[in-house]
Amino acid sequence: MLSAKVPLDELGDDRSVVPTYASRGLAGPVLRDEMPEEGMDPAAAYQLVHDELSLDGNPTLNLATFVTTWMDDGANRLMAETLNKNAIDWDEYPQTVELQDRCVGMLARLFSSPEEHRSVGCATVGSSEAIHLGGLAMKWRWRAARRAAGQPEDRPNLVMGANVQVCWEKFARYFDVEPRFVPLTEDRFVIGVDEAMAMVDERTIGVVGILGSTYTGEYEPIAELAAALDRRCAEDGLDVPIHVDAASGGFVAPFLQPELAWDFRLERVRSINVSGHKYGLVYPGVGWIIWRDEHDLPEELIFEVDYLGGSHANFSLNFSRGASQIVAQYYNLVRLGRSGYREVMEALAGTARWIAGELAKRPDVRVVASGTDLPVVCFSLVGAPPVSVFSLSALLRQRGWIVPAYKMAPDAEQVEVLRVVVREGLSRDLAAALVGDIGAAIDQLAAGAPPAHPRAPAAAPARAARRVRTRATRPRPDAKTRAVC
Ligand SMILES: Cc1ncc(COP(=O)(O)O)c(C=O)c1O
Repeated sequence: MLSAKVPLDELGDDRSVVPTYASRGLAGPVLRDEMPEEGMDPAAAYQLVHDELSLDGNPTLNLATFVTTWMDDGANRLMAETLNKNAIDWDEYPQTVELQDRCVGMLARLFSSPEEHRSVGCATVGSSEAIHLGGLAMKWRWRAARRAAGQPEDRPNLVMGANVQVCWEKFARYFDVEPRFVPLTEDRFVIGVDEAMAMVDERTIGVVGILGSTYTGEYEPIAELAAALDRRCAEDGLDVPIHVDAASGGFVAPFLQPELAWDFRLERVRSINVSGHKYGLVYPGVGWIIWRDEHDLPEELIFEVDYLGGSHANFSLNFSRGASQIVAQYYNLVRLGRSGYREVMEALAGTARWIAGELAKRPDVRVVASGTDLPVVCFSLVGAPPVSVFSLSALLRQRGWIVPAYKMAPDAEQVEVLRVVVREGLSRDLAAALVGDIGAAIDQLAAGAPPAHPRAPAAAPARAARRVRTRATRPRPDAKTRAVC
């Protein structure tokens, strides 16, 4: 979120947070946008901030996010113990580095890295950073190959489905790569293999395959993409790599669909990103990128950094970052093991399939994705006339449920859906309450009763003004098309 300083004359008298606990530590108003001259009692400050945050949604009922909202006590303790460690202080915290190294080794093996290859990788802040690093490696490799062949190195392009998460659009814009989006159709919500191949040419740095589309949770046909690129290579010599965006599926498919070849079992897959903070089951702030082989990561991108007493190889967009999520990832990997992750994923998939089955019993619901890939349920409304998915989302919000409604990506925008991401914390009991509330809300809307507040309460003008809308971040005319993550 990009925020802005609001001019004081626009704020007028609206400049302070008025305290509730007047005689218990907060006797006067507290300036909101200007740093107060004097500090305050820590207990009062805690209460003030704590209370303001109670306006946020309840993370357990946030079925919009893929990101972890519950961890066990062991993880919570370890994270609290390591909050004061900077993961970049290699010499000072060598054991944290050791845990990161072990995570990379475990994930490379989880993604079927052939033992004879020296796979490399690193922790990132999330899949977005991992994707930027993966994209840069593809661009640099392509440039080196073009240079070696005496070919021009301008106008690189990247082929991907129109259903990619926004981080791929960011990568393309920030790093000057032409994005080539394969449009969706009314009955295909993932990349089309033939359509993708038609966009591949000698300037293509790579093709993206998504293991778990943000829009529906469906897996893209990665083995088919690889086979088509293999054929293409045999025909005209174009050797185009695949990067798999396994932000969500990287911690699901190895446990629920172990036979599915989407990873380094496919020679053409050169790099994979995964969000540790999604089905890796860690709180927000950790992702991973793994390259099949060290040669897939061009050396020019790696910095040897001398810092605080040691020299280390570094490839990242950030420098300082918290160590606690890396520690928590390692904790989860050893605490759960493969069988523990399998059990969790099976339970989540069971709940997702149950929700999908219950919703499918209604004639006015069409289930688009029923938890067969990611544990995600995606559905549209088909009554005559159909209830608006946006009104349903707003009405559910009044009950506390956060269930996003959005339009599909181009060219399937006419399809409007809602999506439920099943994570740990959504018990079968809560799922039953959700299904009941969805049914009651659809009936209420179909009977013509509009939600009391069709949208979340509007932000106060000054609050709204603090959020910046640049040309780049301003929603496109089809603002509701963005699936949230
Ligand atoms: C397929 C996909 N790729 C990338 C991302 C970005 O991941 P992160 O939030 O970890 O940066 C998301 C987020 O939902 C996603 O669904």
